[in-house]
Amino acid sequence: MKAVILVGGQGSRLRPITFDVPKAMVPLRNRPFMGYMVDFLKRGGLSGAVLSLGYLPDPIQSYFDAQDLDGFSMDYAVEDRPLGTAGGIKNTEAYLDGEASVVVNGDVLSGIDLGQAVAAHQATDALATITLTSVEDPTAYGLVEVDHDMLVHRFLEKPAADEVTTNLVNAGVYVLEPEVLGMIPAGREVSIEREIFPELQAAGRLRAHVSSSYWRDIGTPRSYLAASHDVLSGAVGAGEGFEYLQVDGSVRREKGVKILPPVSVAVGCVLGRSATVGGRSALGQDCVVGEGAVVEGSILFDGACIEPGAVVRGSIIGPHARVGENAIVRGLSVLGAGCVVGEGNVLDQGVRINPGVVLPPRSMSF
Ligand code: GDD
Ligand code: MG
Repeated sequence: MKAVILVGGQGSRLRPITFDVPKAMVPLRNRPFMGYMVDFLKRGGLSGAVLSLGYLPDPIQSYFDAQDLDGFSMDYAVEDRPLGTAGGIKNTEAYLDGEASVVVNGDVLSGIDLGQAVAAHQATDALATITLTSVEDPTAYGLVEVDHDMLVHRFLEKPAADEVTTNLVNAGVYVLEPEVLGMIPAGREVSIEREIFPELQAAGRLRAHVSSSYWRDIGTPRSYLAASHDVLSGAVGAGEGFEYLQVDGSVRREKGVKILPPVSVAVGCVLGRSATVGGRSALGQDCVVGEGAVVEGSILFDGACIEPGAVVRGSIIGPHARVGENAIVRGLSVLGAGCVVGEGNVLDQGVRINPGVVLPPRSMSF
């Protein structure tokens, strides 16, 4: 059985990072998210996948071109304009074998047992079986009401707060019969959540399967950072040989550097005198952390530079971005690629700075 991985969306809630890096490629513990996705599909016994690409397809395709997938097949279907979640599935039809397939949203990190999902699907006459997970606030997801037999009674995408009747939501992992592809109109944007699932529900052919495994959609800064913390702390089925302290041999540490695991520091990083790095942080390749600077609970993309005395906490620093001397970036702030936060600035409360923006230094008064 093959999978379709939907990775064509713009990742707009994860901007400014996704202006340059597609959501599917953001790193978790210094490995692109797609690496975890393929492990997940292989663990589920699938033989290969078709990527449904649209926005920024090249970095995703190049990543897989350079990987040895050990017999797992990978095909690519690129749309020239957004076709929506159902249109994106239909666009992969030529690569599917006319049998049932698994479809996954390409931004879901999970420990769902795909074998169980497929078995649940095969035990009924459903044309589609959705995996459900429970969340605190269903308003950002597809709400799914089921009966005692797991027949879906209602599928409501992004319910308003007063429409919430259950905490079970669509986990973005489906088993679909080939007939479903025939229900998707060609040549226009079609949403599986807003058009196809309600149609299948009305026909009594949509069923569900509940999973209690780890599950997270990485599509917002908060959830991406939380997923990064989880992967670094081994909360996502870490497997054997997991190291809480992952520091590449090439990393240069000057005197007095404090490294607090869990942490991942990639090749070529330089940690200056008395710098503190860790507390569930991941530093990409060639990052520089200056003298006395602190990086905690954060993600630094490749080439980020944290100058002497600066503090970065619980934030996301895009590729080649620079945090100036004694500046503070905290509270889930997100810096786009190549931007500069001048000396002495304080960024807090989820501030997002677009790629290339330069914030001038702020003089400090004592
Ligand atoms: N090929 C293609 N074309 N892919 C797309 C398109 C498109 O036009 N639009 C979105 N996608 C991909 C995204 O890249 C993502 O991997 C996946 O489809 C889901 O899109 P999101 O934009 O992340 O949707 P969401 O998170 O708001 O909601 C979806 O996921 C939830 C679970 O995480 C829905 O399926 C919800 O019902 C669900 O609960
Ligand atoms: Mg999503």
